[in-house]
Amino acid sequence: MLNRAKELLKEVETFKTDKLEELELFRIKYLSKKGGILTDLFSDFKNVASEEKKEFGQVLNSLKDLVQNKIDTLKSSLEIDKSHGEKPDLSLPGEVFAHGSRHPISLVRNEIVEIFSRLGFTISEGPEIEDDYHVFSALNFPEEHPARDMQDTFFIEKHPDILLRTHTSSVQVRVMDNQKPPIRTISPGRVFRNEAISARAHCIFHQIEGLYIDKNVSFVDLKQTLLYFAQELFGKETKIRLRPSYFPFTEPSAEMDISCSLCGGKGCNVCKHTGWLEILGCGMVHPSVLETNGIDSKIYTGFAFGMGIERIAMLKFGVKDLRLFFENELRFLKQFV
Ligand code: PHE
Repeated sequence: MLNRAKELLKEVETFKTDKLEELELFRIKYLSKKGGILTDLFSDFKNVASEEKKEFGQVLNSLKDLVQNKIDTLKSSLEIDKSHGEKPDLSLPGEVFAHGSRHPISLVRNEIVEIFSRLGFTISEGPEIEDDYHVFSALNFPEEHPARDMQDTFFIEKHPDILLRTHTSSVQVRVMDNQKPPIRTISPGRVFRNEAISARAHCIFHQIEGLYIDKNVSFVDLKQTLLYFAQELFGKETKIRLRPSYFPFTEPSAEMDISCSLCGGKGCNVCKHTGWLEILGCGMVHPSVLETNGIDSKIYTGFAFGMGIERIAMLKFGVKDLRLFFENELRFLKQFV
């Protein structure tokens, strides 16, 4: 009996296989509860002469450990081999990933932000859901101003004071609330107006606001800043012109045109044969806006401007329909990679 167990030790030690099925047969042969060699040997233990019991027991235990080890090691190495067999062929060319691209509105916004940051402007942001105070009252809008009409502004139902901002000028108010002059900041962001969607208008669009407040800031500073901006964005040969306009929060106010970037000012369809394109509104911050927001208008003056990013992107990229910026049509977006 002892010899038989010792022979089995050798047999198990030399056992080899490269097939999982054979390994399973090996397991059954030794460990099966019914008729397994080890199971039988253990039940024969009681018939062994008592002086042999100790040694026999030891051999039996090592045999059992050996069988279990053999099964474990063979099994894991066979499973690794198997998964290697299913591994992809690493010499094949890889899958081509579709590259995303920046949205044209982001491209233009980043470029504008970059130009103003060279002049020392920092970025400020404000909430899209605003209150009447920041969008209108603090900006000198009279109570009966048409912009406060439901036709132009999205109000939150049952909360006539809460609305979606119609311009980024609301961020001016927040900046003046939180900072002391000198202030030099631009505020890019989404704005909302209750307009019918067409090739030229949308109920959501993007603006960039600029605000500069310090001692001795004059209209000359405004004009020079905007000229620099226009030439950086549209090319050194670009000219600007300022036409008198009206905004409740600036005085004097102006609208700025640039010489048509497509025909160079000669006249074409895009500039409607005028040679000029309107791109932004601007002016000197109204003294009562400064005062409302806690800035002494006898010491400080400032200028502000605001422009629509879509409008500028349309001019820069020759896009004829504003809706394209919101539809995320891949054939359109891929042109900006
Ligand atoms: N907020 C104005 C608009 O939406 C633009 C503007 C900004 C005008 C700052 C003057 C100064 O049309």
